[in-house]
Amino acid sequence: MIVFLIGFRGSGKTTIAPLLAERLDCPWLDVDEIIQQTTGQSIVEIFEEAGEAGFRQVESEVIQRVIQDHPADARLVLSLGGGAIMHPQTREAVAEHGPCIWLRAPVHVLWERIEDDRDNVPRPALTDLDPLEEIHRLLAVREPVYADCADYDIDTSQFNAQQVADQIVQWCKQDDTR
Ligand code: S3P
Repeated sequence: MIVFLIGFRGSGKTTIAPLLAERLDCPWLDVDEIIQQTTGQSIVEIFEEAGEAGFRQVESEVIQRVIQDHPADARLVLSLGGGAIMHPQTREAVAEHGPCIWLRAPVHVLWERIEDDRDNVPRPALTDLDPLEEIHRLLAVREPVYADCADYDIDTSQFNAQQVADQIVQWCKQDDTR
């Protein structure tokens, strides 16, 4: 079983993934990290060289490979970059190997978290809009897709990280096939 974490930049995936993995007693991986390790380039460099389309291609290939290499009877928490689920092949793979958890937060919370992170986590601009407008614009397109793919969703601005992880675990345990 792979537990996929999806959601916009700043939704809490990187914070929640290790906590969730600890509670599920399994490893966790971050797709952006794997991309950087396998290409030897930062996400910003890949965007500069190959554009968003090139990045999405690499991202989708990395996700397929992680899924293929993962033994079906072992658990894994896999944190996807905020736009990964927009790729049709990634959506198919997630639907097949899920469950898929959508971490949500209101726009102003996402914006504050991204701004606070700006020095530690350099993120390429995805539009030429100002940062807040970019979030509004992209969420309008992405939220219906996140909602459609998600088996479970939680507003990460309403709880602390431990509580978010606990609630996801509780949801996972409701069905022991997960
Ligand atoms: C992106 C989100 C980033 C990273 C890349 C593109 C996006 O991941 O994959 O910068 O399109 O929203 P995080 O959501 O982990 O920041």
